[in-house]
Amino acid sequence: MTKQVTLSIDGKSVTVPAGTVIVDAAKKVGIDIPIFCYHPKMEPVGMCRMCLVAIGRPMFDRSTREPILNEDGSQKIQFGPKLETACTVPVSEGMVVIGLSDEVKAAREDILELLLTSHPLDCPICDKGGECPLQNLTMAYGSSESHFVYTDKQKADKHYPLGDLIFLDRERCIQCARCIRFQKEIAGDAVLEFFQRGRRTDIVTFSEPGFDSYWSGNTTDICPVGALTTADFRFGARAWELQQAASICSHCPVGCNLTINVRREVKSGGGIAIKRIMPRQNEWVNEIWICDKGRFVHHFTDSKDRLTHPLDCRDGKFVETSWEDSINFLTHRLENIQDKLLTIVSGRLSNEDLFNLKELTLGLGGSIGLYTQMAGGDLTSRYGLSGDSNLTNLGEGDVVVVVASDLEEEAPVWYLRVKAAAERGAKLIVANARPTKLDHYASETIRYHFGKEVDAVRGIDLAGGENVVIFFGSEGMDLVGSAALADACADLFKNAGNVGKVNNGLVGVWPRVNDQGAWDIGLRPLGDLKAAIEAATVVYIVGADPAGDDENIKLLLSECKKRPEKLTVVQDLFLTETAELADIILPALAPTEREGTFTSGERRVQRFYQAATPKGDAKADLSITGILGSKLGLEMESRIPSLVFSRLSGQVPGYSGLNYQKLAQVQEQWPIFKRSDLYYGGTGYENNAGLGVQLPLLPISSPSEEWVWKDQISTSQESLLSGDGLIAVPVTKLYDMGVMMVPTEILRNRVAEPIVTMNPADAQAQKTADGMTVNVSVNGASAPAVVKLDDSVPVGIVLVPRNCGIPVTKPEKILIRIAEASLT
Ligand code: SF4
Ligand code: SF4
Ligand code: FES
Repeated sequence: MTKQVTLSIDGKSVTVPAGTVIVDAAKKVGIDIPIFCYHPKMEPVGMCRMCLVAIGRPMFDRSTREPILNEDGSQKIQFGPKLETACTVPVSEGMVVIGLSDEVKAAREDILELLLTSHPLDCPICDKGGECPLQNLTMAYGSSESHFVYTDKQKADKHYPLGDLIFLDRERCIQCARCIRFQKEIAGDAVLEFFQRGRRTDIVTFSEPGFDSYWSGNTTDICPVGALTTADFRFGARAWELQQAASICSHCPVGCNLTINVRREVKSGGGIAIKRIMPRQNEWVNEIWICDKGRFVHHFTDSKDRLTHPLDCRDGKFVETSWEDSINFLTHRLENIQDKLLTIVSGRLSNEDLFNLKELTLGLGGSIGLYTQMAGGDLTSRYGLSGDSNLTNLGEGDVVVVVASDLEEEAPVWYLRVKAAAERGAKLIVANARPTKLDHYASETIRYHFGKEVDAVRGIDLAGGENVVIFFGSEGMDLVGSAALADACADLFKNAGNVGKVNNGLVGVWPRVNDQGAWDIGLRPLGDLKAAIEAATVVYIVGADPAGDDENIKLLLSECKKRPEKLTVVQDLFLTETAELADIILPALAPTEREGTFTSGERRVQRFYQAATPKGDAKADLSITGILGSKLGLEMESRIPSLVFSRLSGQVPGYSGLNYQKLAQVQEQWPIFKRSDLYYGGTGYENNAGLGVQLPLLPISSPSEEWVWKDQISTSQESLLSGDGLIAVPVTKLYDMGVMMVPTEILRNRVAEPIVTMNPADAQAQKTADGMTVNVSVNGASAPAVVKLDDSVPVGIVLVPRNCGIPVTKPEKILIRIAEASLT
């Protein structure tokens, strides 16, 4: 156990672990020592001097080491000749700290006067106004007068773009280096630095493009002044006008906790509009960070292209119709449908949506399948993280394995947390067929050929890890390959002997936010999607775009549309390629417009709440399905998500006993992160809406729930990958052209280009060269792309960004032809 130290701060006795700095010790007993440069998640640097305090230490006789006592028997305390910085000095036994003396107050006043010498007087128009540590601490400790001459103030750029997303107001910067240190220490992207010296010191970015990092928005939260602001929120609203709604990010399996700031606006027709997305503290999930996708992609919800009314396809054209007519029509078509109903759903949907869709489909005698290329959810429910697991607890003596996943692109906050675990001393093994950014932090990297993932996993020895966590992705795999990899990872984990222990488990790096929830609810991938669609009379596709991903499905759905006995119903947010082929389109609400729960890849069930006014006449997926089911005589809930959840928890193994109240429970977290104190942790939000609940593990012996993948599909990607010709392997990029990314203009410049990355040897054989435009034919479709050469790409493999214009979702044969433009 860590040695404990007792000291006194402003007369209060405090006992904290040795090594704690005074600022943190004070915070633990409710004493706020003002700070600017210190941040509890970063190493102290002692740059701003705002935290100056008087520090006394017990006196000892130098020769005998005996305590020197006062006349009353208490130990003599000796104060230093000068004030010291409370953020850099660790506590020691018997220390006495005085943070409220006249001397300390005078020092704080001097520091503030110094910081304000060149600070502009633009609080009335500054975005940080109302939540600015400098403003607040000046009001608390500053002077109403200054020794400095106004005309001596430094003038500097006020709207300097560090990149597309972040603007710098150079006059407001107080040179605390929090932004620079965050990028170096936490994000591992050292793209900011100081430039010049003295009063001309400035923040610059030296990446191309500017501020090239998935984490840039976090610097605006921890900047203690209004020097860094986001491109979308600056001049958009004042902090005190904003309301808060708790939410969960829906863009990857991490499930980061968010606070959505909203305001009623004229330009939203008097409705409640989203003004910005902020992190909400959950030390088990995202701590106090979010990635830029989670922060900025919400703009899709305001897109004019959202589906807002039910649409009926008549004579090849979509016409608006009413909910009543759509539901009546569908009720008529679904009566007596039985096994001719096929429902296709994705992990983009909430647990409540998926549960209702399953109830409806099975209630009518139809079949329902999960649209995914990744398997293993049946294994994570038995061998996943459980109890009070927290990746922050991993360090020396522990082992983390990441297989077939580019973690920063697929689940960014897991990348941060795994990187941090490695930096704390955990052994990190990264196994992939190509280099990824996480290799940099790995103790061991394993390079295998695509198709040989299982062999690579079988070769790993994990022996002796105190805690073992295995992340498995699906890069380079089809469904069968992914199932085989999940199996191999489960075996590796079982052999390590840590099954059931807290801080141990198997984590699926799922392509969607709620894939784990979908597997838990009992949804399984459809083996042969094409055959299933052909066999059905009514195909109900919810939250998925199979036609956009696969040219063959597109052709099939086009054929279905010509046959009057067939009916395709699509329920979504946008007119996707699949929706364009539908007979009926039902508009769905975004997660920010309704309530529900998602289950993260760490198996934490978390609530999200309604933040903004629903768009048009759209409805929550669970409501649409519930209304339809009720009309068809099924006992279904269509209005209240908590009631759907309570039905779900009564039926879904592992969810028993859960309810919305339990998911909304909170507990004290460290660091203490409160809105009343903005200088300590930043302008993110404390969590008072729920930390969620990590599910218990299911018993290992419940084979009926396992997905029998070996019988589902006869071909495997291994034979494909070992055959002749070029093979396209889709790789996930955080910024792609997914349904929600396309309408998000602010991220448009960052979306991955349709680039095919290949080995120079292959390029030579294809007579192409770096930068050349080619036509890529894959899976029956053709698209232009630019060639990029990279000798770390295995020969025979072409890396293709997923969802970026080239329709490929699993390894496929690819043909590359030089585009005419490049020939001329
Ligand atoms: Fe500190 Fe903000 Fe200046 Fe960065 S921009 S050094 S966080 S004041
Ligand atoms: Fe959202 Fe994932 Fe980014 Fe978190 S890491 S903010 S869940 S996209
Ligand atoms: Fe301690 Fe800056 S020197 S907070």
